Amino acid sequence: MLAMKRKQYEKLLEPIEHELVAMARWAKTTGERICVLFEGRDTAGKGGTIKAISARINPRQCRVVALPKPSDVEQTQWYFQRYVPHLPAAGEIVLFDRSWYNRAGVEKVMGFASQDQVDKFLREVPTFEKLLVNDGIRLFKYWLSASQEAQEERFAERLEDPLKRWKLSPIDIKARTLYEEYSKARETMFAATHTDHAPWIVVDYNDQKHGRLTLMRDLLDRLPNFDVPHEDLDWPELGHAPLEED
Ligand code: ADP
Ligand code: AMP
Ligand code: MLT
Repeated sequence: MLAMKRKQYEKLLEPIEHELVAMARWAKTTGERICVLFEGRDTAGKGGTIKAISARINPRQCRVVALPKPSDVEQTQWYFQRYVPHLPAAGEIVLFDRSWYNRAGVEKVMGFASQDQVDKFLREVPTFEKLLVNDGIRLFKYWLSASQEAQEERFAERLEDPLKRWKLSPIDIKARTLYEEYSKARETMFAATHTDHAPWIVVDYNDQKHGRLTLMRDLLDRLPNFDVPHEDLDWPELGHAPLEED
């Protein structure tokens, strides 16, 4: 795919950013709770998308959740327990950079969870998500999809760039050699967890800029109409500040 040019990307991004700002205002005034999961292979573009969305929203209102591997204590808890405290409160938009789906992905493929744990997770996750949705949380699950070629290119780029090298973990290096296993795990996950109340939304990320714009557009379109007429907004009058000599 032909990569989108930065200029064009920025031009297309601008109206979307305005809508994101309006969306955040709508969530705040209505008390809506929005929860977005970002999943996909390493280098797919989760981080960049999350940054683009959160950049335009007040950090008090928009939280990014990227949990590290579970601690020893967390490993003894109910699997969903460590994710639950991060779910959105009224007016919040929470962006999960990887999520409870780790159990069906990295934990399954790397063997950090047993097959029984993975099967139990896949059986239970639709119910867990149903509880969230029934409570009124707006839950969106995005899968960022990129080919093995694209992934290889981005790994090479990261390795070359000292400012990007930190993004490569030992897990990523190992995951590279397990491409097929990850594909299988993803198919099993989709089959078990693509539900009416919480469907997977797959976005083509072979071109990251194109993918980012598509995902943001899609997210905005899935929310109810949140147009707030401009004249209804209670903007403070700036007036003229008296300028004084320093
Ligand atoms: P990142 O993608 O943030 O650079 P890693 O590549 O190290 O992090 O790990 C990928 C994902 O796998 C992360 O969500 C991390 O929490 C998870 N993970 C890493 N090690 C383990 C582990 N031992 N058990 C469970 N999950 C793990
Ligand atoms: P390894 O690749 O086995 O050396 O493990 C890498 C990391 O994963 C280490 O921090 C281990 O503590 C952790 N780990 C290994 N096995 C498991 C497991 N079954 N469940 C959770 N974490 C694990
Ligand atoms: C991504 O680009 O999808 C994320 O940065 C994940 C990663 O570090 O590979």
